Amino acid sequence: MTHIRKAVFPVAGLGTRFLPATKSVPKEMLPLVDRPLIQYAIDEARAAGIEEFIFVSAAGKSALEDYFCTARALEAQLREAGKTKALEALEATRMPEGAMTILRQDQPRGLGHAVLLARRLVGDEPFAVLLPDDVIRGATPALSQMVDAHARTGGHMVAAMDVPRAEVGAYGVLDCGESRGRVTRARSLVEKPDPALAPSTRAVIGRYILEPSIFDELARLGPGSGGEIQLTDAINRDLPRAGVSGYRFEGERFDCGSVRGFVEATLAFALDRSDLGEGLESRLAAQLGLRPAA
Ligand code: G1P
Repeated sequence: MTHIRKAVFPVAGLGTRFLPATKSVPKEMLPLVDRPLIQYAIDEARAAGIEEFIFVSAAGKSALEDYFCTARALEAQLREAGKTKALEALEATRMPEGAMTILRQDQPRGLGHAVLLARRLVGDEPFAVLLPDDVIRGATPALSQMVDAHARTGGHMVAAMDVPRAEVGAYGVLDCGESRGRVTRARSLVEKPDPALAPSTRAVIGRYILEPSIFDELARLGPGSGGEIQLTDAINRDLPRAGVSGYRFEGERFDCGSVRGFVEATLAFALDRSDLGEGLESRLAAQLGLRPAA
């Protein structure tokens, strides 16, 4: 069984859907309750056993890069003031020394190009890719589920879920072959198809376990949908060699790349919290006219 040790986090996107907030705050730093979006992806990766974290960032994202520095002065201040809870919150974000590398994608050439930039750091082993916009809430982190399944299947594996047909044009989509439990073999993949022509409604969600052979395909690939180098196209081209499966993860996925999805995720994660849930429920009920505000 191959241990998946490395993960790539493409974080170069502009986050224009969140303007004006993203004028000075990178999208990945927007707080989902009180943790930035990126922290959810990191926690998921760590839970799945990832030890090396490769960020593909861009200019104007220094707040994201600073977030990963240990805030020693702040920690000392909090310790002195006896603010244990705040200190614990900070310590939970601390990364092991040397575990992170930040690369820069100088031109917005797409997700496939961002992954290709990590080639030298990944080397010749299977690795994970996590798109922090896709937040998955559930008992077992989605990437952990995939790592377990991948130990049995090998090949490329993408997280997958069914979406309404009208929405398939926003996703990579699988042509589904035979299924076994949560794993479906893909016959092909297509990026952002016309809904009327899409081979199924099984969409790719932003978690991948990829074989290193993906890099040769990415290096050969020309621009695809939207004029960008598409990861989906490279996976599709490598399908005959490596095999591709879609993994229907257990958990609820939020599209935090959209304002609506972000707000829904905020509500869901806040309602889960013992310190916020009850007060919020009555506030919501009051707003919805279900009962008077407490
Ligand atoms: C990217 C991928 C797409 C995938 C989606 C999941 O698209 O290219 O295949 O289905 O993430 O969120 P984007 O959302 O960056 O357009």
